Amino acid sequence: MTGPTGAPSLHPVASGVLIRGGRVVDATGPRVADVLVEGGRIAAVGGDLAAGMPSGVTVLDASGCVVAPGLVDLHTHLREPGDEEAETIHTGARAAARGGYTAVIAMPNTDPPLDDAAVVAAVLARGADAACEVVAGGCITRGREGRELAPLGELHDLGVRVFTDDGACLSDAGVMRRAMEYARSLPGAVIAQHAEDPALCGHGSMHEGAWSARLGVPGRPAEAEAVIVDRDLRLAALTGTPLHVLHVSTAQAVESIREAKAAGLAVTAEATPHHFTLTDAACAGFDPVFKVHPPLRTAADRDAVRAGLADGTLDAIATDHAPHRTEEKERPFEEAPPGMLGLETALALTLTELVEPGLLTLEQALGALSWRPAAIAGLSDRHGGPIAPGGVANLCVFDPAATWEVDPTKLASRARNTPFAGRKLTGRVRHTVLAGRPTVVDGRCADGG
Ligand code: DOR
Repeated sequence: MTGPTGAPSLHPVASGVLIRGGRVVDATGPRVADVLVEGGRIAAVGGDLAAGMPSGVTVLDASGCVVAPGLVDLHTHLREPGDEEAETIHTGARAAARGGYTAVIAMPNTDPPLDDAAVVAAVLARGADAACEVVAGGCITRGREGRELAPLGELHDLGVRVFTDDGACLSDAGVMRRAMEYARSLPGAVIAQHAEDPALCGHGSMHEGAWSARLGVPGRPAEAEAVIVDRDLRLAALTGTPLHVLHVSTAQAVESIREAKAAGLAVTAEATPHHFTLTDAACAGFDPVFKVHPPLRTAADRDAVRAGLADGTLDAIATDHAPHRTEEKERPFEEAPPGMLGLETALALTLTELVEPGLLTLEQALGALSWRPAAIAGLSDRHGGPIAPGGVANLCVFDPAATWEVDPTKLASRARNTPFAGRKLTGRVRHTVLAGRPTVVDGRCADGG
């Protein structure tokens, strides 16, 4: 079977899907129920729907599992166009589906970048038959150079809601102000900032602190994040435009965002699994797999990020899935590109690191992985639930007790740069359903991968 672009379709047309025997968890709370899906939508939710089911219905066993709205990643690098050896739209979407995601926001730092309507339209067309919904993020400035605004209105017409120069910080306050003023007129638009002042970061490759001093590696100070976050909060207040802070990594930024929210500002923020799990001590062996921007920070910063997720200061868990070719990631630490994989480990890291120790409830964790990012990206009409008749059937079924070990050779991503290789995790995706069609069944992509 082929999809509209001629690529193999991952979604066998199912006449109906019955998700049987799971515990449904969405923003309305938990209940034990079967979920029947027909024509891409949820047809029924209730006790033992199997009785009298027609023979054509595909039954997905969910015993012992949580049935949740599909996860939504606000921050995925798909690398297409430009670096398809690292990842393509289709391989990245398969990785997303394996991780329980039904939608990802594709970051615009591709080559060419998503600063132009034609490029965005091409990415959307390529993604139309992918294993998850591929939502385009758009650049704030032309070429992500921080000078001239991209055609935000034209990109918005194509459905872009999240605008960012991610990978680069928009450091010119005047350009940031103009972008926010323009975005204010675009319904649902949010300006998302990679908050790291380039002047303070210089050529730093890791967090500036005791470890960078000991290793002799130039650092990126926590203040580089703090000064941009503080400035942008002021610009958000000045313009009234919603601000989203990408991959928050420092205690200082968490505190600034907490105060801004208390003051009623329209600000949202995300944290990555690597920032709430790892610290700069991981860089001690000079392994570039631990190099990322913003960098892994101190244990105090990691704990502040965890606390920010627990009290809702940080709205979303986003992966910053950043695939890189192996030969690139094997260069010396200071020359290797920053970034690490995330899509296939995010849910399990959240369950293992935050839910199991009691820092977050399961509902809070799923809120941060699904319905809150869906709301930030303007996708709540079809992602994030609630799981009720009439809703679009974007669903994730996972076993919260299953244990597994991360093996980079078994990932669906084309790249291998996970910092979690060999780590034992609890919680594993069993099935993913995209608009009524299974994209992952029993942990394998529906095309067998
Ligand atoms: O480490 C990172 N890698 N941080 C970013 O913001 C960009 C990303 C990439 O594109 O590789």
